[in-house]
Amino acid sequence: MNNQKEIIIAVEQVKKYFKEVKAVDGIDLKIHAGEYVALLGPNGAGKTTLVEMIEGIQQPNHGKISIKGKNWKHHQDELHRIIGLSLQETRFIDKLSVLETLNLFAGFYGLSKGKVSEILDLVNLEEKKKTWVVNLSGGQRQRLALGIALLNDPEILLLDEPTTGLDPTARREVWDILMKLKNERNTTMILTTHYMEEASYLCEKIVIMHSGKILAQGTLDELLSKHVKGEAIDFALDRSISKDDLPKTEKVIKIDYDEDNLNGEIIVEDLVSYLPKFLDVVKQNNLNLTSLECRKMTLDDLFISMTGRHLND
Ligand SMILES: Nc1ncnc2c1ncn2[C@@H]1O[C@H](COP(=O)(O)OP(=O)(O)OP(=O)(O)O)[C@@H](O)[C@H]1O
Ligand SMILES: [Mg+2]
Repeated sequence: MNNQKEIIIAVEQVKKYFKEVKAVDGIDLKIHAGEYVALLGPNGAGKTTLVEMIEGIQQPNHGKISIKGKNWKHHQDELHRIIGLSLQETRFIDKLSVLETLNLFAGFYGLSKGKVSEILDLVNLEEKKKTWVVNLSGGQRQRLALGIALLNDPEILLLDEPTTGLDPTARREVWDILMKLKNERNTTMILTTHYMEEASYLCEKIVIMHSGKILAQGTLDELLSKHVKGEAIDFALDRSISKDDLPKTEKVIKIDYDEDNLNGEIIVEDLVSYLPKFLDVVKQNNLNLTSLECRKMTLDDLFISMTGRHLND
């Protein structure tokens, strides 16, 4: 389906090195009209460097970036008109109110007061419009940053960690705003995140980055079915058991068991046939389960299988 859609952002062989640090190390990426794309990866993966090159804030050492066929060198004004962005950390002027802050940015774009009140409503800050920015909560600041990014009705939204540090309710509020934009305006978006739930919920395309490179990209289902097999049983016992006593069938993909900490993880192809055998062993050995969770594989499992590390270590 994507093949018929316009390519909005094309990143070709882009590299950015800071002396010996290869922050972005040869990235190719195509983003289509209306697509929501997550750059997911741990600290230092190169997410900010990549989005800032797309935003025209940093220049690549190598490679090419085009946005709707245009580039930052020759089409700066046009690109500013169609892009809305928020940086990983936004600095506001503390003693301006929310309204004054939005008016200031609206002034840069030559926008009307009506636009500012539309944005206040969209990001749900109407009640706080007279509050000094310094007195906003973390979630309210993030929504203000998003509001500023949305002032010029951008076709393309580039958001660097829009929900980091927010509690689940505040995160959900940002997600709702972003989903509304997707459904009502067909906005194209790239966001960076550490949260696999955020990437999965918001974005049809997930790009997993590590050490300046793309490890894998695709829809959640594509990534999981291609790169990680099976289902996991995570358990903890009240007493130790030998790893050799855990049932081994041809359907077992991997058994990890820590005899000191009494917990383990078994990855199996067929959970329904394996679980009763596992529970039999627990019973026969007079053990108690202190915890038991059966779960589908996640993007974190994928990341571990490729790098040996958790996404958020
Ligand atoms: N201006 C700079 N000078 C030197 N090194 C830099 C610079 N900017 C980034 N780096 C390095 O490049 C690598 C990628 O950094 P980047 O900020 O792009 O990562 P990130 O994925 O956004 O990480 P985080 O999740 O922590 O925000 C890191 O090793 C970082 O230290
Ligand atoms: Mg970053």
